[in-house]
Parts: sequence; C-alpha cells; structure tokens
Amino acid sequence: MKSLSTALALVGSVQAGLRFPCSTLTIQRLDPAVQPGMLPSAHVHHIVGGNAFNATMTGDVSERATCTTCQMSEDFSNYWTAVLYFKHPTNGSYHRVPVIPVQPLLGGSNGVTGGLTVYYTQFDLSRDNIKTQPVKSFQPGFRMTVGSPTETGKPHVGLRYQCLQGQNRGAEMADFPTKPCTGGIFTTHHFPACWDGKNLDSPDHQSHMYNTIKSDGFMNAPACPSSHPVRVPQVTYETVWDTSKFNSMWTSGAPNPFVWSFEGTSGYGTHADYMFGWKGDALQRAMDKSECFYDGCGSITKQAMTTANKCTVKDFVNEPTEGWLTELPGMSKAASG
Ligand SMILES: *[C@@H]1O[C@H](CO)[C@@H](O)[C@H](O)[C@H]1NC(C)=O
Ligand SMILES: *[C@@H]1O[C@H](CO)[C@@H](O)[C@H](O)[C@H]1NC(C)=O
Repeated sequence: MKSLSTALALVGSVQAGLRFPCSTLTIQRLDPAVQPGMLPSAHVHHIVGGNAFNATMTGDVSERATCTTCQMSEDFSNYWTAVLYFKHPTNGSYHRVPVIPVQPLLGGSNGVTGGLTVYYTQFDLSRDNIKTQPVKSFQPGFRMTVGSPTETGKPHVGLRYQCLQGQNRGAEMADFPTKPCTGGIFTTHHFPACWDGKNLDSPDHQSHMYNTIKSDGFMNAPACPSSHPVRVPQVTYETVWDTSKFNSMWTSGAPNPFVWSFEGTSGYGTHADYMFGWKGDALQRAMDKSECFYDGCGSITKQAMTTANKCTVKDFVNEPTEGWLTELPGMSKAASG
C-alpha cells in the first residue's frame, strides 16, 4: 500500500498517468449506463463531465458534447456515483450531504466546484511502466460500472471509505465510518483495468471487464487474464462528502446516520459508473506519454476551472433533491410496493 506521505515524497519524479478535477455537472435521477432510457432512474446520482449527459447515451459522446466540467478539455466522459444523504436519527428526514473538492496532494483544488477527482493510471502512483505494459484507451460507446447497490457482503478492496479528521485521511474501510468525521467522508472507487477487447458493455455492465485489485491504495494491475487480455487505463474516482454540519445531530452511540441515495444504510452498496467520452485519440495520446501526471501534459489540452464550471445540463427530472425531505427521491414507500 502506498501511503500519502510516500506518494508525496515521490511527486518530484512522478510520471504515471493522469489526475484531474471535475466539477459537479448535475445531481439528479438519471443513469444512462444501468437504466438507459429511464426518466427518472431509480436513485439520485452525482454526475460530472460532459454536457451530452442524458437518459440515453449511445455512440460517440464526444461528438455531441460541447463542454465539460473536467479540467481536461478534450474529456467529455461522464463519471457518476450514488449520492450520500444524512438520515436524521430521530425524525427520519433526509438531507443531501454536500460534495466538496478533493484537495489534491499539490496545488489546491484549482477552483473546482464540488465534483470529484479522476485518475487514469498506467501502473501505480509512482511509475508508468508503459514500455513493458502498453495501455489501450477505451473506445467510443464504452461504459462500465463497479460495485452494486444490492451488494450485501464486503465489496472488493477497490471500493473504500476514509474518515477525514483534519489533514488525516485515516485507514481505508469497506463500510461507513462508525463515528463522526470532522473533515467529511472520503470515498474511493477503483475500476477494473482489464478489458475483453470486444464488448463496449455487457448485460451486467461489469463482465466485459476483469478486476485485478486485491489490496488498498493505488496498485498496479498484474498481467491481464486471457479472458480479458487488454490492459486499459485504471480509472479511479475520489469524492469528499462534507458530513461535518450533520455531526452535531449524530447522537452519541447511535449507528452511522449516512445513507446512499438508494436507501443504502450499509456502505457495502457503494458503486460508480463510467461513460467514456474523450475526443479522438486524446486519451490514447496521454496514456502513451510518460510525462502526463497530476496537471496533465503537453499532449492534451486543459481549461481553466472557471470555464469548466460554466458547463451545465438541464434538469430532466424536476423533483426536489435538496433541503429536508421526508423520503429519498424515487424511494417512496407507497410507490415501491
Ligand atoms: C436527450 O435525449 C433525447 C432522446 O434521445 C433527445 O431527444 C434530447 O434532445 C436530448 N437532450 C439533450 C439536452 O441532450
Ligand atoms: C427533522 O429535523 C430537522 C433538523 O432539526 C428539521 O429541519 C426537519 O424539518 C425535521 N423533519 C421533520 C419531518 O420534522
């Protein structure tokens, strides 16, 4: 496992993949990967990336999008996860937990609004290793998910929670923290890095990919199996949920009051979705370079976050997701029977 301090020490010589912030694009009930065409989808998502985001997304997303909330201006992909809500321990009302920028190891948050940080790593946090293990970009139309809202056992180690106390991220955990976190809850979603080389999607949105992640932190994918022989970039999302303003309502000794937007009281249901949308060969060019890390590199184009923050999509669903709610959107007790 690579600790934060080890990663910091290596920064001077780091040459390993891409990392960049994306601001929040929208928060609503849409899921073009798992529930295409459903308007609304089952539960609320926090979505970043290009403005081609819609209930249905087919073909080359980058040809339809005209802007992106990501720092890399050729990246019109969409990245999304479920949304964290606070469930009041005594009156049962829900309130959305705000997302705040992930403070990168260097350079602050660059003016990002909410959002999440995306990584495309070639090997691990300190090396690219592309001479021995070339990395092939995803193709237009590609999508995948990791984790599942119906997961009841511990998810694989790439899906983790950390309890932020000041600058300290704490240990990686499979489930929600059991005590208040003064700095919020940090979630990590590592996607699998081996592709079957044929299918842009699969019925469960996962079996065209093979997961090699067996330990915490940013680990290299070992050799891909013959069933999934193509090494693709290892995609990771980091999100910070600002739980701090709810901590005073978390009565001492009470169970964790934070729930995922699908009424997920167990942390094991954490999951994330990816819709590829890089323009042309921009991602391949970045993966073929050794110098691309942290703030990108010469071969791909960046934009100011003040520009990225202007990118929006319309509210397709038009339902309240903010303020105190008596039910989570889509989770109506009356309608679910
Ligand atoms: C969303 O998708 C629908 C159906 O494909 C299409 O008619 C509509 O123009 C799209 N809306 C936006 C804002 O992209
Ligand atoms: C639950 O408590 C919160 C915080 O005090 C309050 O704002 C909300 O209106 C309450 N909900 C109900 C249904 O009373």
